[in-house]
Amino acid sequence: MKPVEIARDIYWVGAIDWNVRDFHGYSTGRGSTYNAFLIMDEKITLVDTVKAPFADELMERIACVVDPKRIDCVVSNHTEMDHSGSLPRVLHYIGEDKPVYCSRMGKKNLAAHFGDRFNLQAVENGGSLSLGKRSLSFVETRMIHWPDSMFSYCPEERILFSSDGFGQHYASNERFDDQADMNQVMTEAEKYYANILLLYSDLIAKLLANVGEMNLALDMICPDHGILWRKDPGRIVNAYAQWTQQKPGDSAVVVFDTMWHSTEKMARAIVDGLGEAGVRARLMNLRTDHRSDVMTAVMGAGAVLVGSPTLNNGLFPTVADFLAYMKGLKPRNKIGAAFGSYGWSGESVKLVHGALAGMGFAMEEPGVKAQYVPGDDALKACRDLGLSVGRKVREAAAVANSGS
Ligand code: FEO
Repeated sequence: MKPVEIARDIYWVGAIDWNVRDFHGYSTGRGSTYNAFLIMDEKITLVDTVKAPFADELMERIACVVDPKRIDCVVSNHTEMDHSGSLPRVLHYIGEDKPVYCSRMGKKNLAAHFGDRFNLQAVENGGSLSLGKRSLSFVETRMIHWPDSMFSYCPEERILFSSDGFGQHYASNERFDDQADMNQVMTEAEKYYANILLLYSDLIAKLLANVGEMNLALDMICPDHGILWRKDPGRIVNAYAQWTQQKPGDSAVVVFDTMWHSTEKMARAIVDGLGEAGVRARLMNLRTDHRSDVMTAVMGAGAVLVGSPTLNNGLFPTVADFLAYMKGLKPRNKIGAAFGSYGWSGESVKLVHGALAGMGFAMEEPGVKAQYVPGDDALKACRDLGLSVGRKVREAAAVANSGS
């Protein structure tokens, strides 16, 4: 694919990673893109680079527009290596004395990644850089999602270069929201938020409020991953505004692993109980459902019911993995419950219960344990658990939606 002129003299020159299926532990079934942008002005400026293996692709796209040696400066909105990995190659080619503009933390973090041989120039939050006919203004977005993260805004073109914000892991030969399958794009945007940004929801809500007060005119939002928003930038901004609230949803996730199908039988009985309460439930088996897909379902749910067999006096490993992953992402406003089968010691339910309670979930007491194979009583207890949690999910969702 050639470079794409996204506005007069501004080009997408990034790379498409059709094959990536694991992004530091997050499953990327539709691949990803690393978006980079070339602004042809009196100062020829490259905004962000791409993951290191795609440096040639980046340079070839730039060369279709201009001799890369003529690039005057680079703006690095974010140090993570999917965006800075090609920086050493780019600077080696264009000249290591060329300035790299970044946030103050970006200067520190780029030096920590690549040494201090580059001409790293820290910009102020709210500061701007004249490129000639255009300029870039910088907005620090610290901890959204790294300490160095920032947005760059071009007021003359009304374009926001938003780094990871508003992105999606979505490989495509389309570049814009008016070309792509938007159901797929929004699904990937939601997954991105659930797995990368959820824990920063309060900061994102503040950022959206601040940007709202700044009254930035926005014709286009250009994230560093996936589709660029030009037809309807408000769609993704509104979705973020909703996701930051973490309102309890009217669905439930029943997530489990199982050794000899006993915990699975319990999970299915819980799903029956949730259905009886009129609550939509997702049954997710950690042996086949990726933790990042489970997390996406968790974000929109009102309850998370976690089942683990007891293995060697502890949790089943996939369940321990999922609990550690979910804890880091800090979901809020969830009802929780624990269940599981055991042979002789039976610690798993207590361990799951403790983990969910430690995440601030409103716990349904005491959960359900079944020895070896759940009999009628245990299965009834599971259905009752689902029914009770389901009723609470509906109540919580009704309260959240009434605004009270
Ligand atoms: Fe796409 Fe935080 O890097």
